[in-house]
Amino acid sequence: MSKLTGKVAIVTGASKGIGAAIAKSLAAAGASVVVNYASSKEGAEKVVADITKAGGKAVAVKGDVSKAAEAKGIVDAAIAHYGKLDVLVNNSGVYAFSPLEEINEEEFHRQFNINVLGLLLTTQAASKHLGEGSSIINIGSVVSRITPSGSAIYTGTKGAVDAITGVLSRELGPRKIRVNALNPGMVETEGTHSAGFIGSDFETGTVAQTPLGRLGQPNDIASIAVFLASDDSAWLTGEQLLAGGGVR
Ligand SMILES: NC(=O)c1ccc[n+]([C@@H]2O[C@H](COP(=O)([O-])OP(=O)(O)OC[C@H]3O[C@@H](n4cnc5c(N)ncnc54)[C@H](OP(=O)(O)O)[C@@H]3O)[C@@H](O)[C@H]2O)c1
Repeated sequence: MSKLTGKVAIVTGASKGIGAAIAKSLAAAGASVVVNYASSKEGAEKVVADITKAGGKAVAVKGDVSKAAEAKGIVDAAIAHYGKLDVLVNNSGVYAFSPLEEINEEEFHRQFNINVLGLLLTTQAASKHLGEGSSIINIGSVVSRITPSGSAIYTGTKGAVDAITGVLSRELGPRKIRVNALNPGMVETEGTHSAGFIGSDFETGTVAQTPLGRLGQPNDIASIAVFLASDDSAWLTGEQLLAGGGVR
């Protein structure tokens, strides 16, 4: 029997990048997976097709995590399709760097609404269905530790993710629900390509400061997510796992 046989998982923002890899890995470990997306229907359907082809179970569900009704809709879809919920991976996220003088309200609210409010709304909706032994995995970032110049908004959102992880581990601990942050270093994804990080001086500098000497790949993160979703990590809660090849 695989580690997650019989479990039901939601992965937000699973149409591409880290979320897609996590969805496939959870399914390969036996979970039935809700593959959430905001706009990339085709990407999400491809992830579902890959999972199904490999003998797993998955369904694509549209929903903007930053809207309460849509966040609830993602959770309701999991219950409607699979009857229960055991694992929530709050992965949906956006990033853009800008120096202090270019910060504006619109960009602040865009990043905080998706990265922080979205996590809270989805977790709030999910918590009603999570039982003993469930696991919530919040995808943070090593930026909350290394605080790169020019990243105040994004790093602010990920600092909030770390703090909220600690708070919710205490709130949900009495119900035996674990809450951990999984904080990647730079990973090659559709998002980091379109943000212009890949191939830039930022990438070169990041790799130079990485003890293992390369960028992360989505599967580097996905295997740790499987660990955090499974009972192998049953004694971990409120942790911030840095997953950046040694970057800290
Ligand atoms: N890549 C990195 O270097 C890195 C490092 C540390 C942490 N992270 C974190 O890892 C997570 C994934 O990053 P990534 O690089 O894989 O990103 P990505 O390739 O840009 O993918 C982002 C995902 O989030 C979804 N999304 C965006 N807005 C959403 C919303 N309002 N509601 C629901 N889903 C939404 C997107 O869905 P659509 O495609 O449908 O819009 C997509 O599936 C983020 O939380 C990011 O902060 C990334």
